Amino acid sequence: MTGGGFTASANDFEAKITPIVILSCIMAATGGLMFGYDVGVSGGVTSMGAFLKEFFPEVYIRTVEEKELESNYCKYDNEKLQLFTSCLYLAGLTATFLASHITRKQGRRATMLIAGFIFIAGVAFNAAAQNLLMLIIGRLLLGCGVGFANQAVPVFLSEIAPSRMRGALNIMFQLNITLGILFANLVNYATNKIKGGWGWRLSLGLGGLPALFLTLGAFVVVDTPNSLIERGHLEEGKTVLRKIRGIENIEPEFLALVDACTVAKEIKHPFRNILKRRNRPQLLISIALHVFQQFTGINAIMFYGPVLFNTLGFTKDAALYCTVIIGAVNVISTVVSIYSVDRLGRRMLLFEAGVQMFLSQFVIAVIIGIKVRDHYDDLSKGFAVLVVVMVCVFVSAFAWSWGPLTWLIPSEIFPLETRSAGQSIAVCVNLLCTFLIAQAFLSMLCFFKFGIFLFFSGCILIMSAFVLFLLPETKNVPIEEMTERVWKHHWLWKRFAQDDLVKEEKVVTAD
Ligand code: BGC
Repeated sequence: MTGGGFTASANDFEAKITPIVILSCIMAATGGLMFGYDVGVSGGVTSMGAFLKEFFPEVYIRTVEEKELESNYCKYDNEKLQLFTSCLYLAGLTATFLASHITRKQGRRATMLIAGFIFIAGVAFNAAAQNLLMLIIGRLLLGCGVGFANQAVPVFLSEIAPSRMRGALNIMFQLNITLGILFANLVNYATNKIKGGWGWRLSLGLGGLPALFLTLGAFVVVDTPNSLIERGHLEEGKTVLRKIRGIENIEPEFLALVDACTVAKEIKHPFRNILKRRNRPQLLISIALHVFQQFTGINAIMFYGPVLFNTLGFTKDAALYCTVIIGAVNVISTVVSIYSVDRLGRRMLLFEAGVQMFLSQFVIAVIIGIKVRDHYDDLSKGFAVLVVVMVCVFVSAFAWSWGPLTWLIPSEIFPLETRSAGQSIAVCVNLLCTFLIAQAFLSMLCFFKFGIFLFFSGCILIMSAFVLFLLPETKNVPIEEMTERVWKHHWLWKRFAQDDLVKEEKVVTAD
């Protein structure tokens, strides 16, 4: 154990799956819906003529009037257009640090509530935008909302869930991200058909719906026992624990939580503490997972799917339609993960998906490389279908592995004292890499052409090796017992945990 006198030898603490846990998870996970809607909406909107004409006239002219003059791969290469997509993530990564402080001091619920409010303000700016500045201010506010929500929601879910279902319940967050993306894809498909050129306003405005759900949800849910106890509300924490676990004998879990909180309270500067040697494995793994997730190339598809399909010669309608299919595959495959994560384990899913993603990206690169020339020469129908199928194969693998597990693992591997700081760093790295991909992809496509997909498949090879050698399995291990049961047994990371043990023993002997 981390200290104190409690030893848990059983696999798990007793717990029922109570309606309050399920409900709380559904409510909190709407934070994912908000995030997903943003991911999905920008790609469709930036491929709509009326939107481009109003805010990015130079791109509009290129896509419509000078079609023959441009290289296929470079039609959408425009920094301002990329900034519209990417600035949200820049704001999000900054906001997540403030969010960490609030999550720790005021609780997970407070952060989720603030996230909902800021997001709604951002939606209002976006839907009413009269110029590029309003549009960008709106995106920055949305980013702050996302930064707050992504910081608090995964931690909330991991803490409130009984450990044998932690994986599945945490993936509700990712499931909602994918539902948000699909919802945005469907909305874009429909609003693109609206006459009068204001469809994009509806697309951007409907982002308010998930934010409203999160805000209402945050009013209703209880804060986690971990957070209540950490903030000194011991009795309330105990009552909530009894309520959410649905059993009388919550004493063992309660003691373990108090134990973890005692250690946590001694830490005055979580961000300084997280840099200590003993936290290095968790920190390195969290950062690596988030960097790798973005370098699978998923957001090249999610943000710029419609634009990419236009580049390959699809009509606007067909491109938005294919994006809806891909969005649906993303949702369905995430359900596979919910079912298998606590059975097959994290490592198995990540590794299998690595192989599948590598092969599909490679095939996409080959087809595009052979079939799409710089100047107008669309893909034939057969190859176009094959590209869409390969994109689906890629997205499905991502959706049952790197999509959800990148959010799950960092939220469960840190000890309580560094959990919220660790989550902030993880979110920050994720949003930073998302920003980089969003800002650079269209320029990279213009420069590297089909080679961009070879680049992503190379990254997938590296990350699969990382999983194989450096990622320990955390399936079914109670969240406050990771050090004892995971880190101290890993061939490499045990050195970091054992170093600490040696130091602790020395202190005891000296006493
Ligand atoms: C990622 C997003 C991505 C989404 C796709 C999430 O886990 O963080 O960047 O767009 O999955 O489903």
